[in-house]
Parts: sequence; structure tokens; C-alpha cells
Amino acid sequence: MVKEILLLVVVCFISSSFSAVPEHHFSPTLLSIYQDWQRRCRMYTGTTEELIKQTQEGKFPEDESIKRYTDCLYTHHDYMVGPDNIVDTRKLKYLLPEGSEAILESVRKCNLDLVNAGETNLTELLWNMHKCYHDNIDPSLYYFY
Ligand SMILES: *[C@@H]1O[C@H](CO)[C@@H](O)[C@H](O)[C@H]1NC(C)=O
Repeated sequence: MVKEILLLVVVCFISSSFSAVPEHHFSPTLLSIYQDWQRRCRMYTGTTEELIKQTQEGKFPEDESIKRYTDCLYTHHDYMVGPDNIVDTRKLKYLLPEGSEAILESVRKCNLDLVNAGETNLTELLWNMHKCYHDNIDPSLYYFY
């Protein structure tokens, strides 16, 4: 009994010390592609495991390579961002599990606010958008991979 309580405490502690959504909550689509995206974008931008981890923890280090990595995740395959720098939340929806409306709404609002504020550098735009999404969402709904 004591052991079980201890285990529960440890498990709770571990899951609350990371704010990003754990892998087993990823949608099947995201699960099937994210490792490939990660690998390619890491290779392409030269960012590090440590910088990715910090961003998963919501720390957003001031570093060019992690900004370009975030850009790469969103723009890989010209998938999610239109020429007007507007994120296609319908496409983003396929990567998220059912019931992710709050996430989509937060990303959409952050994206539009930054575009309307005149941010034209896509790398900066996507980085600040992700930061804004992180700041406005329940920590258990924060994705970065
Ligand atoms: C856009 O921002 C990135 C990241 O800060 C920077 O590396 C790049 O030089 C900027 N591009 C332009 C055209 O200013």
C-alpha cells in the first residue's frame, strides 16, 4: 500500500514536471510522423536535444537554431502555413487528438494577433506564436516535439 502511494506520488511528480503533452497522448497521425519531422528538422537546423527539451518545458531559449527548428516543424512539406503566414488550423487539427479545440483556438488567435501586429519574419512569427500559445493554454495541453 505504502509502495503504491509512493509510486503514485512519483508518477504525478514526473508528469507535472514536464509541461508538454506526453507522447502517449499524441494522435495516431502525429505519432506516425513526428519522429521523422524531428529528425529532419534537427538535422536541417542543427539544434540540440537540450534546446528542444527546454522548449518542451516552456522555457523558450533565445537561440537561432531552436527558432529555425520550430519554423521547420510548422513549414515542413509546406503543410501548415499559408503564403500569408496564416496557420491552417484545419490541417493542424489532424495532428491533435479529438477535443483539441482549445489548442486550435489559442494557436489561431496568437497567429492572427502577430500577423496583424505586422510581424513578417516567419521564423520569428512562428516562434512567438508558439510562445503565445504556451502562455495562454493549460500546461497539460502544450505541445512541442
Ligand atoms: C528572421 O528571423 C530569424 C530568427 O531570428 C533570423 O535568423 C533571420 O535572419 C530573420 N530573417 C530576416 C529576413 O530578417
